[in-house]
Amino acid sequence: MPDIQKTDAAMPATQPTIIRREDYRPPAWFIPSIALDFQLGLDHTVVHSLLDVRRSKSAKYEEPLLLDGDGLIPTAVKVDGEAWTDWQLIDGNLQLSLPGTAHEVEITVEIDPSTNTQLMGLYASQDMLCTQCEAEGFRRITFFPDRPDILSRYSVRMEGDKKTFPVLLCNGDKVAEGEVDNGRHWAQWNDPWPKPSYLFALVAGDLVANTDSFTTRSGKPVELNIWVRDGDLPRTGHAMQALKDSMRWDEEVYGREYDLGLFNIVAVSDFNMGAMENKGLNIFNSRYILADPEVATDADFDGIEGVVAHEYFHNWSGNRVTCRDWFQLSLKEGFTVYRDQSFSADMGSAALKRIEDVRILRAAQFPEDAGPLAHPIRPESYQEISNFYTATVYNKGAEVIRMMATLLGAERFRKGTDLYFDRHDGEAATCEDFVVAMEDGGEIDLGKFRGWYRTPGTPRVSAKLSHNPQTGTAKLDLKQSLSANGAPQQPSEMVIPIKIALLDPVTGAHEGEQLVTLDQAAQSFTFEGQKDHPILSINRGFSAPIILESSRTAEELAFLSSHDDDPFARFEAMQQLMASYLVAQVTGTPADRDIILQAIGAVLADDKIDRAFLAELIQLPSEAFLGDQMIEVDPQTIHDAREKLRGKIGVQFERKFRRLYNQCEPGAFSLDAAARADRKLRNVTLGYIAASQVEDAAALAFDQYRDANNMTAMQGALGVLSHMDAEERTWALEDFFKRFKDNALVLDKWFTLQAMSQRSDTVKRVERLANHPEFTLSNPNRVRALYAGFTNNQVRFHDPSGKGYQMIADMVIELDGQNPQTAARFIPSLGRWRRFERGRSDLMRLALEKIAGAPNLSKDVSEQVSKSLA
Ligand code: ARG
Ligand code: ZN
Repeated sequence: MPDIQKTDAAMPATQPTIIRREDYRPPAWFIPSIALDFQLGLDHTVVHSLLDVRRSKSAKYEEPLLLDGDGLIPTAVKVDGEAWTDWQLIDGNLQLSLPGTAHEVEITVEIDPSTNTQLMGLYASQDMLCTQCEAEGFRRITFFPDRPDILSRYSVRMEGDKKTFPVLLCNGDKVAEGEVDNGRHWAQWNDPWPKPSYLFALVAGDLVANTDSFTTRSGKPVELNIWVRDGDLPRTGHAMQALKDSMRWDEEVYGREYDLGLFNIVAVSDFNMGAMENKGLNIFNSRYILADPEVATDADFDGIEGVVAHEYFHNWSGNRVTCRDWFQLSLKEGFTVYRDQSFSADMGSAALKRIEDVRILRAAQFPEDAGPLAHPIRPESYQEISNFYTATVYNKGAEVIRMMATLLGAERFRKGTDLYFDRHDGEAATCEDFVVAMEDGGEIDLGKFRGWYRTPGTPRVSAKLSHNPQTGTAKLDLKQSLSANGAPQQPSEMVIPIKIALLDPVTGAHEGEQLVTLDQAAQSFTFEGQKDHPILSINRGFSAPIILESSRTAEELAFLSSHDDDPFARFEAMQQLMASYLVAQVTGTPADRDIILQAIGAVLADDKIDRAFLAELIQLPSEAFLGDQMIEVDPQTIHDAREKLRGKIGVQFERKFRRLYNQCEPGAFSLDAAARADRKLRNVTLGYIAASQVEDAAALAFDQYRDANNMTAMQGALGVLSHMDAEERTWALEDFFKRFKDNALVLDKWFTLQAMSQRSDTVKRVERLANHPEFTLSNPNRVRALYAGFTNNQVRFHDPSGKGYQMIADMVIELDGQNPQTAARFIPSLGRWRRFERGRSDLMRLALEKIAGAPNLSKDVSEQVSKSLA
């Protein structure tokens, strides 16, 4: 036996195939229409396809027809109605040598959805069948040129057992249905809009719908359905409202109407990502549909609103105008994230939304951009495209769109998007097409701005404001630089729109916000009429996704934290104040703590501040964010310094926190802004009261848990208890489990809360939870609940023993055999090994090497691991 293993390991590793953007070639064949027939069964589905194939007029050679396939074997092939044997399977793809220019190709394949654990293609989730085709799942359903620049009209007949699959859904409109023998029934669906294969979807199962309707502004009625399992119907109201709000908003803000008479959403519990924008049939991870106050937090409600909007907005930014190739992914994702962010800002508080979006960008994208997996928002190459559904493509992509909107102003930006949609409707477009539409529609030259599409890394901008009392001028000196994967910073010339204001040092007043555009390595801007040295408010609204290094003093930051009229800049000033103190603590340099306490005291005393905003202002930067500010991360020292400051703030303001805590006592549950603000501030103050180590902290948290009538309060209380060494923690966790063990989405929270605990026994606990009867690797939500909760817990994941790393490595190896896409998502947590102090760094690398040495790694994991070790 050992010999056989050795031979296996010694087998030459197959060279990875690298797909490059520059190698794009237009297709040699087009498929204007496809007719599909599905004989559905959970463990046996027969797929028959009829393709209308046309040779491209611009093709120079008689290229064969190449149809992508993944794990398929044709059981029958016909061309123009006749059996056809002149085909070959090459690396799973079907190649047919066809003469002439037009044919009808028919192919039959048989697949087993019940064994499809990758959740790509057609798969079974509990007793229902559903699909995920983006990016390359359609080739697991049938042979097809599975690339986004092939647009086809789909007509689909699906047939299955009526009891197992009472509901049969597909894209477009249902045009016919009927019954056949043996208790089977069928439905015929036609989608009038040509679409790429990644937007194909099919669902068959025992589902019920929340049905509603929407009338478009031109008066067309649309039937809306949200399909869920029977008991979940009462939890679909928020998603439905979000859908209707999105439809209205896209008409008002972008002039975009819905284009079918039917819009279906289906919630499934096993899903690799958030949701999918299939034409007329969006498929969602159930966590982004199901909510009521008892099971969902305010953040969950927001997540639902944002993702429902995101998928709906794709109908224009993604479906009507799609991507030419996957390098253009940010064309639809960056733009659509920008659109959903703007929508959520309009539905709720723009200030809070911006703070949240920047928090996400810094937590997920900045580290990615600083590490071995950094890539431009339009990548140049990939091995596995699933690895490029990243915070860079999505969230930095959205920031790049936002910067264009800032440079153009609202009106010209709208002219640009109108032109983009009109010009490219029905086409597969490129990022370059989008930029050109912005230039033509918005009458602007974005020549140099294109650097954002090519350049990885987060630009650093240093800002220094000086004042000349004689001339009454202030001068702002800006410099920018970039570095890739730990290399030294080099001067750069990105186009960076920076919003600034110069505040009066006494009153905080200013004469208006200004936009300065930095587009050289170093530039100075002069401002007249400045009698006194003004206070610099900069990168207001986070107008550019940069790391700002300003020479502002702690006093100036403290001033801004109570005076800046831009909420983001005000929040940011407080964060900078806290972060620079904590970084100084960690690196052993002197810094003034009192000024932080004074700044916090000032905002706590300011009764004009909205409570939700106050809750944001007084929260300390995360341990991960602090780590990102350092050359070498020592998680324990960071944790200790931060906890010490938290404790000090807790003690200093304990009475004030208690007063606020009591003032935020909830009444009847409401989702309105004031009630949400109270819940938020109550949780934050509870955290500080606990940090002050007062004796009744555990009891107070437990009371909140016990008396809560909503999940926000419950989870907030449990979050505080989860770090404690008190019997209340055990009681509450046990109670929570008993109460919610039948609700998978809530049980996920139970796993996450424990994985995020700061207790020193967390590694052991996570290990035990992985063996809990309710834990399974086959449900991506459960996997993320436990393990992403853990890898985000900086101090405990980075336990100096390295046990956390080993646990993740072993899990990745096991999960890779079932679900490579979800397994690969965990590599970045280890991939940042170069950033950590020596001991941990070595152990992280060892864990990566262990993964790299495992047999039969997927393309997904091997790409991420090899890049992380390179
Ligand atoms: N287009 C989807 C969205 O952003 C994401 C789907 C990605 N799925 C995947 N398996 N890579 O809404
Ligand atoms: Zn998307």
